[in-house]
Amino acid sequence: MLVLGIETSCDETGVALYSSERGLVAPIVYSQTELHAKYGGVVPELASRDHVRKLIPLIRQALFEASMTVKEIDAIAYTAGPGLIGSLMVGATIGRTLAWSLQIPSIGVHHMEAHLLASLLSSERPKPPFVALLVSGGHTQLVYVEQIGKYKLLGQSLDDAAGEAFDKTAKLLGLGYPGGPEISRVAQQGNSSRFKLPQPLTDKPTLNFSFSGLKTAVRNLIAKTSSMTEQTKADIAASFELAVTETLHKKCKQAIEQTRANTLIVSGGVAANSTLRETLQKLSCEVHYPPQELCTDNGAMIAFAGHERLQSGFIEPLKISTSARWEIESLPSTLT
Ligand code: KG4
Ligand code: ZN
Repeated sequence: MLVLGIETSCDETGVALYSSERGLVAPIVYSQTELHAKYGGVVPELASRDHVRKLIPLIRQALFEASMTVKEIDAIAYTAGPGLIGSLMVGATIGRTLAWSLQIPSIGVHHMEAHLLASLLSSERPKPPFVALLVSGGHTQLVYVEQIGKYKLLGQSLDDAAGEAFDKTAKLLGLGYPGGPEISRVAQQGNSSRFKLPQPLTDKPTLNFSFSGLKTAVRNLIAKTSSMTEQTKADIAASFELAVTETLHKKCKQAIEQTRANTLIVSGGVAANSTLRETLQKLSCEVHYPPQELCTDNGAMIAFAGHERLQSGFIEPLKISTSARWEIESLPSTLT
């Protein structure tokens, strides 16, 4: 089976083909970073208009790179949510319409399930049961995966997501967008023990997260600092990164102990962070990540997630539907 995957939930237009025989073929990601950079964050209307411009040319390019024709596609998977509703509608409409014209099935994929399944695309494929830490720009979740397709939400962010905290803190420090890679770059020259920043909820039994207080602590710190030298900026970035990664580490440790799982998978944009990866090495369980380029949004994870659901007999009516909010626990557990 050859599945075309389409990702348009936020500011990346991602396209890829996933073949049962050949695996991942021709993954292409076009990032709108430059378009949104001057606004310091994603502007939803600009994002959806750019997906309209880029998606069809990128599908053509992927087919060209794969030396395949559109007639060889057996099914189309697109991100149906959660995400920016206008952007989701672009991928959903093009995906469903193309599938209808080719008379092939199409499937709306859950974006966070796709992030989770991306870790199965690495050479060592972890086997459930495991705990998944999903850390993206819009979500921070700990999910217990009893089997693929059967998810129990253990905890999630009550306010800002981890990636969002990186983005907002970068903005406060006058760094570029997206903030995660920028903070990470600047933090390399910084002293992470110079400022003690809060690690919210880490002294509580809950597996929920709260990152908005951390961002406020950085704002107060900046307000108190009379001269913002490059070194101070680096020290704040490093101290912030330490607070986030230690918080994530402590909650993962709690989740592993609580569920008695011996494997953790970490996925989503923040999973690309090298300090987080170093910190999670302290855990006494196996830790798996997707290949580095599949941590942030991409079409490959959508093609793969769609492939797995279609292979297990999952079918959907032709109706186009998308959801800006969508609970991962509500997915039908048809996957094994
Ligand atoms: O998963 P993703 O590409 O998009 C969403 O589904 O939201 O995640 C994007 C988020 C952004 O907030 C970005 O700042 C963060 O991931 N990010 C990072 C790094 N690379 C991307 N955060 C920390 N360190 C990184 N290296
Ligand atoms: Zn994402």
